[in-house]
Amino acid sequence: MLDDMTADRSVAQSLPKPRNPDEPYRICIVCLGNICRSPMAEVVLRTELAEAGLAGEVIVDSAGTGDWHAGEAMDSRASAELSRRGFDGSGHVARQISGHWLDRYDLLLAMDANNYEDLLALAPGQPGVRARIRLLRSFDPDAPAGAEVPDPYYGSPADYAEVFELVAAAAAGLAGRLAAEFPTGSPS
Ligand code: 4NP
Repeated sequence: MLDDMTADRSVAQSLPKPRNPDEPYRICIVCLGNICRSPMAEVVLRTELAEAGLAGEVIVDSAGTGDWHAGEAMDSRASAELSRRGFDGSGHVARQISGHWLDRYDLLLAMDANNYEDLLALAPGQPGVRARIRLLRSFDPDAPAGAEVPDPYYGSPADYAEVFELVAAAAAGLAGRLAAEFPTGSPS
């Protein structure tokens, strides 16, 4: 069950203010296993930001709420889908997020409502952190409120293709928001 923050589109699409304006803006994209959705989104968003000249201003990484795949490479179906679209997912190593990491990020992006709730549960009594946890697709201007990126792990190649489409649309929207926040970036 998502709270009011994600149901309110104007709040959901706003970008949390940088914690420290003198340092890069740090984003962590979070799914369950950190081998499919969040590393795909990480690679796509990082590429978008580099193309917008924001590689130095915004740092993107990813993690999973579960520990089962920590230390593993990206799922071969996810990296195959990235390759098919011209992206390279070969450098990924899966990680599990822990509560004491949350303070390190300006924005934490959950793929689905379960990831979102799991992140909130890692930040009890930390309203400053809670306000920085959002659904990734809240930055896709064409997505409905509460839209998720569905878990493709038990699915087909078509499900991985859908994940790509969803994360690419959200990454484009988010990169646009970040470009407005950090106008010093220049297209490379
Ligand atoms: P992800 O996908 O959360 O997009 O990385 C999954 C990966 C592994 C599992 C579930 C989802 N699993 O159950 O092991």
